[in-house]
Amino acid sequence: MSEGAGKAHEKRKIQAIKGVRDILPPETALWNRVEQTAHEVFATYGFGEIRLPIFETTELFARSIGADTDVVSKEMYTFATGYDPHSLEESIPGRTITLRPEATASVCRAYIEHGMHTLPGNVKLYYMGPMFRRERPQKGRYRQFYQIGAEVLSHSGDLKDDARVDAEVIEMLTTFFEKAGLEGTALYLNSIGCKECRPKYVELLRAALAKVKDKLGPDSQRRIETNPLRVLDSKLESEQAIIEKLPRIAEHLCPDCLEEYTEVKKQLAMRGISYTQNFRLVRGLDYYMRTTFEITAPGLGSQNAVCGGGRYDGLVELLGGPPTKGIGFAIGTDRVILSLQDMRKLPVERALEVYVAWMGEKNYPAAVKIARRLRDAGLAVELPPGEMKFGKALGLADKLGARYALIIGDDEVASGQFTVKRLEDGEQKKLGERELVAYLKAGEAP
Ligand code: HAM
Repeated sequence: MSEGAGKAHEKRKIQAIKGVRDILPPETALWNRVEQTAHEVFATYGFGEIRLPIFETTELFARSIGADTDVVSKEMYTFATGYDPHSLEESIPGRTITLRPEATASVCRAYIEHGMHTLPGNVKLYYMGPMFRRERPQKGRYRQFYQIGAEVLSHSGDLKDDARVDAEVIEMLTTFFEKAGLEGTALYLNSIGCKECRPKYVELLRAALAKVKDKLGPDSQRRIETNPLRVLDSKLESEQAIIEKLPRIAEHLCPDCLEEYTEVKKQLAMRGISYTQNFRLVRGLDYYMRTTFEITAPGLGSQNAVCGGGRYDGLVELLGGPPTKGIGFAIGTDRVILSLQDMRKLPVERALEVYVAWMGEKNYPAAVKIARRLRDAGLAVELPPGEMKFGKALGLADKLGARYALIIGDDEVASGQFTVKRLEDGEQKKLGERELVAYLKAGEAP
């Protein structure tokens, strides 16, 4: 490469990859508030935070989510490592790692790995962080997106207990959305049966779909064979009336599934939580059984699901652990933020309280000292690194939204009396260091 070409290359603007994005202040303040709400609400329900790896062996996701699902077959970011990720030495061709597309599988893996089944009572864990799926990017759908999720794993209890756990998890979710300030959410509920009754229902559905095959689009026609449940997910306008007439799983549940579903609805009603039953809610991941749910929020267009979840008894066993029941959910944080922004629930960013307008190089050490003293007292302080003319400094203080300008010049340093100017009305005071802190702190109060 010639030198000139090299230079051109250096100067080319490097942009973020399609489908991923930066989250900037002041929006990050809103993210922090939402995440803090989750930490607080989940703790009141006895959940502890688990921090999980961002990547895992591909096999973990393939086995839990299901090799034929869209997530595993089309959307995962998978890399060849060139080494055995478990030993770091032996090179095993074909062993790959994957950026996590979700975290339920990782929670189950960690539960087994740390022998959590020996812990007393139900194991209640929550997590937050980025997930990765190679989906077509659009509003509310990204390739790196964020989830706040929670899981309850239990090794004892009957159907009634399970239903109570399901309802409590949903209660926790509704509390979270309420405290986060999200309005207009709707809860959709379904039961998708179990190993006993679902295959029979799938056959029934397949037969019903075969009868109307000609009226379906090519995707649904294909799914009659591959995965008839996914036809229920179809958004195609021409298929809606047909789907409405298809057999519904809730009417074909086995006695145990019916008992649990009935009890979940009773438990939700007892807790005053309203819901809509939606027989089309089949979810896109293979590990689900019985209770499934989704929550939608306004202001999001077609990607309006802000939360999805359900029961996954047997997943831990599938991953080599002891028989374990599971229920959980994941909230799409990006979508919660979009909906809050749509409702104009904007972030309350920490306002700048004091701008230190210092003048004269020799007075800089005094400015550093006072800035540190004010910050110690909990005030938000801006200390410009370079000297500025008085007028320019005040102009910048104003633009930055500072409440006060603290003026430090020769006179102030010599006398130990600092001039404070309230920018709102121009009121000025001369104060010693101690009164200064008290005055500025008092100014914080409304
Ligand atoms: P999921 O329905 O695949 O479930 O995702 C949960 C939520 O994550 C969705 O409702 C949506 O808000 C958000 N989400 C998913 N994909 C994207 C994307 N590409 N861009 C932005 N947001 C997205 C799960 O992941 C399960 N692990 C939930 C669960 C936990 N079930 C039981 N325990």
